[in-house]
Amino acid sequence: MTCIEQILTRRSIRKYKNEPVSEEVLNNILEAGRCSPSATNMQPWYFVVARDHIAKEAFSFRGFNRFTLDASFIVLGFYKQSEVIIEKLSLMDVTIALQNMVIAGWVQGVGSCWMGAFDERKLKETLKLPADSRIVGAVAFGIPNENPSQPPKKPLNEIVHFDKW
Ligand SMILES: Cc1cc2nc3c(=O)[nH]c(=O)nc-3n(C[C@H](O)[C@H](O)[C@H](O)COP(=O)(O)O)c2cc1C
Repeated sequence: MTCIEQILTRRSIRKYKNEPVSEEVLNNILEAGRCSPSATNMQPWYFVVARDHIAKEAFSFRGFNRFTLDASFIVLGFYKQSEVIIEKLSLMDVTIALQNMVIAGWVQGVGSCWMGAFDERKLKETLKLPADSRIVGAVAFGIPNENPSQPPKKPLNEIVHFDKW
């Protein structure tokens, strides 16, 4: 499959096989985040890779996102409020890095699912994050054990305008 075919057929994966992701593949995923673009190349991102049960459990939220327990690992992305000037840019930078990891995982056979719902306080406590950390999001990764069909996506002509609105 070509790179563009891979990107167009990516799906969020919430069921994972009980198989480890190799250290090499994990490292490639993290490198994809490290090499992402960022505003003025500030690279304001920090990541915590959750692999043990207690760390993974911290991502479940009011009964949601229980699939995190079966994930091979979860990458949490944050920036430090004390280090940033324009928060919006840091938010964009960390988001881009996490999404680069999603794509890097997918092209290597690793499925993933973004998580925007989480208990920030619980995560900060459990993962011992710095006091000034601002969590942007988290992505669970694992070998896919489901093959979901594409959920409805808006057609291009509804969302794209050329040259003017
Ligand atoms: C910012 C963001 C937050 C999300 N949060 C969650 C979440 O907390 N739990 C979950 O199961 N899926 C979550 N998702 C996954 C979306 O539900 C999924 O991307 C969407 O349904 C489209 O499906 P697809 O990724 O297969 O195209 C999130 C996705 C994004 C981009």
